[in-house]
Order: sequence, then structure tokens, then C-alpha cells
Amino acid sequence: MEQIELDLRVRRVEFGASTRPADRIVHADAHSVAVAEPAGSLDAIYIDPPFGTGTIRQGRGLRYSDRADDPDAFVAWLSPLLEASRDALAAHGSLFVHLDYRAVHYVKVALDRLFGRDRFVNEIVWCYAVGGKSRRGFGRKHDTILWYARTDDWAFYPDAVRVPRRGGSHMRLVDGIQEKTDRKTGRVYRYPVHAGKVPEDWWTDIETLNHSDRERTGYPSQKPGRLVERVLCAVTKPGDRVADWFSGSGTTAAVAQRLGRGFVVADREADAIAVCTKRLVAQGHELARAGTPPPALEIHR
Ligand SMILES: C[S@@+](CC[C@H](N)C(=O)[O-])C[C@H]1O[C@@H](n2cnc3c(N)ncnc32)[C@H](O)[C@@H]1O
Repeated sequence: MEQIELDLRVRRVEFGASTRPADRIVHADAHSVAVAEPAGSLDAIYIDPPFGTGTIRQGRGLRYSDRADDPDAFVAWLSPLLEASRDALAAHGSLFVHLDYRAVHYVKVALDRLFGRDRFVNEIVWCYAVGGKSRRGFGRKHDTILWYARTDDWAFYPDAVRVPRRGGSHMRLVDGIQEKTDRKTGRVYRYPVHAGKVPEDWWTDIETLNHSDRERTGYPSQKPGRLVERVLCAVTKPGDRVADWFSGSGTTAAVAQRLGRGFVVADREADAIAVCTKRLVAQGHELARAGTPPPALEIHR
């Protein structure tokens, strides 16, 4: 019901000629948007749901209210949305759920039950260094992104996410080829340096955004574009369609727009919708000026 009223107030921003359906930013509850998505219509979903302090998360003049720190209640609240996400995915589609140490183990069990344990692809550990230190233990400096596939036939584009190969002390460089000899078997492995390598499931090369980053919008919990870019490039190609039901500052939408993927994103906070819209309109006009107009943008307030 709420969704229908919001849709009546749709605003369309045109960037130029495009045959793709409009991209959408929806000001609504995550669940109502996810269940309205036709079955099998999405190639990838990345979500970064709120969890932890049970308070207001404050950024530079921007804020949203977080979920209370009760993992069981969190899973009970999130599960219908995870189910709707699964149903909206195409057969080759994937869901990525961004969590931290407080909720990841609870949500992992729920996802195993929902998708099946054999649809679990990766537990991506995103490591960073900035932030507070701990005096009573090791600093908590990573988030976890759980990757689940809709079916056994999931898409993966390793060549789209290669990173520079760093030479270890056990590597010899000969004519742009790195050589590694297996000490036990004596076998020699050769890797062309220019091709780079597919990252492992722990990522240490993407730092959290600092205060002076150009990318920073001031919205709390904003994730780096490079992080979401690696996720989307790994499982989608240009022209595919992605979703984020907890859009926040609009990182997923901004990355999708830049990479030529279609998108639908939602958030229940007016601040988030305003920040995301501003970001996308600015980037859309930049892309149009550079000669690659993204499709029209529909803003459902
Ligand atoms: C951790 S932030 C997302 C940050 C985002 N990944 C970014 O890079 O900016 C979580 C977002 O979920 C939104 N949110 C919380 N509960 C929601 C709900 N029930 N439906 C839609 N959005 C919700 C909050 O307003 C907040 O913007």
C-alpha cells in the first residue's frame, strides 16, 4: 500500500537516449521493495543491513536509526528479506550480505538454511586498519561479506576482478613471468605478471573511507565504491541488473551506474534517498557529458 502511494510521486531524471528500463531509487521499507521485485529479475544483490548499537548512527549532519544489538531478533527481522532476495535472483544470480563480527554467525546459519549449504560460495573478509584500538584483545578490523548463489550455476567473471600480482621472496621474475618452484615436488609454476591474479577471499587492499576522501558523502556507514565494485564485477556484466535494499548513501547504485549495470535501490530514511539521488544525478550528468548516458533515473519518494 505504502509502495503504491510512493510510486504515484515518481520523478524521472533523463540523461539521454537509452533502451534500458529506468533505474530506480525507492524511499520505502526494504521488504516491500524486495517482495515487489519479479522472480528471477536480478543478477546480483548486495546488502549492508543495519545492526549493532540500537541507536542513531550519525554522520556529517546525516543520520539513520540502527537495529538493537540482539542477533536473534535481527535474524528474525532479516530472514523474510533474505527469502525475498533469493526469489528475486536469476538462476545464475548471487546475494552478498555485508555483516560484522556481531551478527555474521547468526546470519550465516539462516542463509545456509534458506539457500542450502552447497550454495554458499565465499566468506569474504574485508580488512581495514583505521578506527579505534582494543586494550583487551586484538583490534576488530574486518567485516564479513557472505556470498550465496541462487543455483549451482552461478555467474563468476574472474578476469574482471584481477589485481596486481605481488612477487614474494620465493618468486623469480623472468621476462615478465613469475616463477615459483614447489619445494616438495620440484614442479615450476609460471604466472604472467601483467595478467594479475584473482583475489583470495580476504581483501586487504581496500581501505575504509577517511574524512578527506572525495567519495565521502557524510552519510554514516558509507562503504567504499571499490569494495562494491569488486563484488559487482565478480558476478555481473554490463547490462545486468542489481539491487540493494539498504542503500544508505547509494554506493551500490553509484557503482552500478558507473559500470553500466541497471539497478533498483531502497532506503527508509529520507536523508539516504536525498544523498543517493544527488550522487547519482551528478554522476549521471558526468557520464552523459563523457558520451555514455546511463538510462533514466526514477526516484520514488
Ligand atoms: C549500514 S547503512 C548502508 C550504507 C550503505 N552500504 C552505503 O555505502 O552508504 C544501512 C541503511 O539501511 C537503512 N535501513 C534500515 N532499516 C531499513 C528498512 N527497514 N528498510 C529500508 N532501509 C532501511 C538505513 O536507513 C541505512 O541507510
